[in-house]
Order: sequence, then C-alpha cells, then structure tokens
Amino acid sequence: MKLFNVYELFDIELVKAQGSYVWDKNNIRYLDLYGGHAVISIGHTHPHYVSKITKQLQTIAFYSNSIQIPIQQELANKLGKLSGYPDYELFLTNSGAESNENALKLASFYNKRKKVIALRGAFHGRTEGAVVITDNPKIVAPINETNHVIFIPFDDIEALEQHLATGEICAVIAEGIQGVGGIFTPSIEFWQTARRLCTQYDTVLIADEVQSGYGRTGRFFAHQHAGIQADLITTAKGMGNGFPIGGVLINPKFKSTYGMLGTTFGGNHLACAAGMAVLEVIESEDLVRYAGEIGTYWIEELKKIEGVREVRGTGLMIGIALEIVCKEVRNSLVADYQIFTGSSADKYTIRLLPALNIGKKEVDFFNTQLADCLQKVLAVEMQ
Ligand SMILES: Cc1ncc(COP(=O)(O)O)c(C=O)c1O
Repeated sequence: MKLFNVYELFDIELVKAQGSYVWDKNNIRYLDLYGGHAVISIGHTHPHYVSKITKQLQTIAFYSNSIQIPIQQELANKLGKLSGYPDYELFLTNSGAESNENALKLASFYNKRKKVIALRGAFHGRTEGAVVITDNPKIVAPINETNHVIFIPFDDIEALEQHLATGEICAVIAEGIQGVGGIFTPSIEFWQTARRLCTQYDTVLIADEVQSGYGRTGRFFAHQHAGIQADLITTAKGMGNGFPIGGVLINPKFKSTYGMLGTTFGGNHLACAAGMAVLEVIESEDLVRYAGEIGTYWIEELKKIEGVREVRGTGLMIGIALEIVCKEVRNSLVADYQIFTGSSADKYTIRLLPALNIGKKEVDFFNTQLADCLQKVLAVEMQ
C-alpha cells in the first residue's frame, strides 16, 4: 500500500533529536527553529518528559473516559494555575482542530445560535467546523460548505461591531496571533472591543491558542497581552511537546451534561503524562518569561539584517518578512546551513517557532547564518 501523497516533503529522514537539534540518518545535525509546526515547546526528548512518559507507559497507558483518571484533574489544576484561568474547566481532546470543533459546539449549545465570525487569513484546522472558519477555500470540500460563517477583514473593528449588533452571532473566533496566515497579531483594541461586544450580545468569544499559546509569546496565552479573558480557549501543539493532546478551557458559565462532548482517546493516561511533564518543565525552567525576553531580543536583532523588510510577532512566535519570496532562502537554510524554519500563507514570510528554551547561542548563530544566506541569494537575484 502506498501513502496518500498530500505532503510536500524535504528529502530528509530524522532519526534523533535533543533540545533544539535534530539529526538525520547520515548523522547530520540540524538546528530546529520550527518544532514541527510549533509543537516542540520544551525541547526534543527533554529528560523530564521522557522519564514521565516512560513511567506512565510502564504503569497504565490507556483507558477510556469511563473510569477515574486522576491525572486529568492534576493536569487541569496545573494548567489553570499556570495559565491564569484557575476557575475555568477543561475538556481534553487530541488535536487543534478537535479543540476548535468542540469550542464551536459549546458556543452553539450555549446560546442556540449558528453564525460565527472569523477573520480573513485565519487557520483553525481541517475538520468540518474548523475548516469552514479557516480562510482557505482550497481545503474546503463541497460537503463542508455552509452559510454560517462571516469572514471579516483582519482587525476590522467596525465590521465586527456591525455584525455583532444583529444579535444573531453565536461566536467570534480569532487566533491569539495568526500563525499559518503569516504572523499577524490582532490589536489590543480589537480584542478589547470583541470582549466588550461579545458580553453585550451574549456572543461567545473564542481564542484559538493552538499555535500561539503555551507560553510562546511571553504570556501563557497570546490574547492575555490585551488584558482580556476569552470565554473559550483552544489549545494543542505545544501542550504535549509531540504527544497528541489538545484541550478547551471553558468558562464556568457553560454547564456540562453527560454525553454533551466526548472522545475515545482524549485525556488518556499517556497524553496527560506528556501534558503534565510539559507544564512542569514550563514552570520549573520559567519558560514563559524566558520566551518573552529572548524573543524581544531576537526580533530586534533580526530587524538589523539586510534583506529583512519587517519582523512581526511576539516572543518566540516570529515572522520574518523578506524583500524576496522566501522559498529559496528556506530551502538554502536547510540544505546549506542545516536549519529548519517554517513557511506561511504569506510567501515572503519565514516563520520561527522554536522550543521555548532555545539558547541565546542558537539565536545569535541563526542571525549570522540568515544574514549570510540572504546576502548570497540576493547577490544571485541581482545578476
Ligand atoms: C491556530 C491553529 N488552530 C488550529 C490548528 C489545527 O491543529 P491540528 O493540526 O492539531 O488539528 C492549527 C494548526 O496549524 C493552528 O495553527
């Protein structure tokens, strides 16, 4: 049987990983500044993570949500404490799309409405509900099509007000920082207006923190830079440092009933052990503060590099907009400099989503390598 061929792959096979480095089968070492789409939060094969998952595996790896699984509550307590949402409740899932799917259902169960406001440039996942609030018609199949979704221009407060005033909107969803779209941050004014109007019209405010959450921006969740609380917050990616786990943080105004939501795998023992290990490392290594500080330094240094037009983002969620299309630069960074970076929907923008404990040495090394790479690519382009 062949694999269904949907991914454009580098011809590289990784066999080993540690911290911010990965090694291929020829023992060539790469600096990983992408973490497999923002997944590696505490670094590859972190010793505490490996030991916690190993111990769990040797005890009990899985049982479904039909028995007591105390590590779920431990995870909820720790997440509530570290995220600043101690009074919220947690529903555990397996991925970002599934988290968003459940958030949309909760919103609609709550106010019995159907229409959702999403932002232009948004990416929320590929399942039914998540894909229709994603601004990419290419990945929406005819069976997914719906008239429940209103896309407003990014950060357009007037459009937001106009639609919310109808009183018919079930939910507003926005990423803490748009990731796939190319690292665009909604303004503080946008978040604050959305918060005020959602409360006024009993619309549910959903912050998709699947990519921007878990400390990456120097706050636990990116929307917290705006000083507001969302009604529902969705997470995944960095939550498990590679182990599939996601979650929805739920305001206590949403009342649970048996069977309202559910999943076979969500919240299993192994996933929760991975999730606990990640939070314990984030806390003990003070990674939220560190990500903010090193990110501020990095962004300022990147702005000084010739060929860089603009640097966007906060903390360790960084978009480097080049003066040229970035594909060739990214390919050269992998092939000639052994550095993984990410792309985005904006073809000029390189995305950096490294582990939160990346060293300053690696940051400085990347800056010199990017400068060198850009100089060479630009020189060829000028010929
Ligand atoms: C902001 C955001 N939401 C949701 C998702 C979907 O997550 P998953 O691929 O785990 O379903 C992604 C994935 O890139 C994302 O960036």
